[in-house]
Amino acid sequence: MKLKSKFNIQIAADGSSASGKTTGAKLFSKKYGIKFLSSGLLYRYSSYLIIKNKPSSERIFLEKKFKKFNLSHLKNKNLHTPEISELSSKIAKKKEIRGILKRFQKNFVRRNRKVCIEGRDIGTVIMPNADIKFFFTCNLNTAAKRRFKDLKKKNPKIKFAEVKKAMRIRDNLDRSRRISPLIKPKNAVIVPTDKLKNIKGMINKMSNVLESVIKKKYGS
Ligand code: C5P
Repeated sequence: MKLKSKFNIQIAADGSSASGKTTGAKLFSKKYGIKFLSSGLLYRYSSYLIIKNKPSSERIFLEKKFKKFNLSHLKNKNLHTPEISELSSKIAKKKEIRGILKRFQKNFVRRNRKVCIEGRDIGTVIMPNADIKFFFTCNLNTAAKRRFKDLKKKNPKIKFAEVKKAMRIRDNLDRSRRISPLIKPKNAVIVPTDKLKNIKGMINKMSNVLESVIKKKYGS
C-alpha cells in the first residue's frame, strides 16, 4: 500500500545495536514506498574510509569525501566488521564528524517527501519534528545472538562472548556520550523486538501508528 504522492511524512527510528530497527524500518518503508536511510551506514562508511586512508585530519578528509558522496558509495562493501563497528562508535563522539554526517541527513530529508531514517539521534537531532518517532528496544543477550548469527556467516571463528562484549561497550558509549546520545525521544512509540519471530507483528504495530497519523494529518 503506497502512500499518496502529496503526503509529506517524516519517520524517525532509533534504538541500540541490533535492536531490530534496520529490519523493521526497512520493511516498513518498502511497504509504504517511503525513502529509507540507515544512518549507521554513514558512520560505518566514514570509519571504513578512515581505516583505509589513515588521514591526518579526519575532519578535512571526510568533508571532502562527503561533498561527492551518494548512497551508491555504500554498496558492495562489508561495513559490518567488528573493527568498523568499534571505530564507528568512537568517531560518533566527535562533534565535527557528526556535523558532516548531519548535513547529508538533513539534505536527504529536504530532498524527499516521505522519509524514514534509522539511527540513534534521528528523533532528537536529525528530525526533531518527525511525524512519528519509533524507539526499538531489545535485551542485550537477544540482540547479541542476532548480531552473532549475521557475523558468523562471514567469520565462522567469531565468538559469541566477544560479540556480546563489543555490543555492550558500543551501546554504553552511544548512551553516555555528550553529543547526540542514544535516548528515547519524547512521545516515541516503543517497539520491543525481543521476540525474534514476530517481525510481522512489529510491522503491523508500526503500520497502525502510521495509518492513524495519516488520518489525523490528511483525514484519509
Ligand atoms: O546502527 P549501526 O550499528 O550501524 O551504527 C554504527 C554506529 O554508528 C553506532 O554504534 C553509533 O556509534 C553510530 N551512530 C550514531 N548515530 C546514528 C547512527 C549511528 O552515533 N544516528
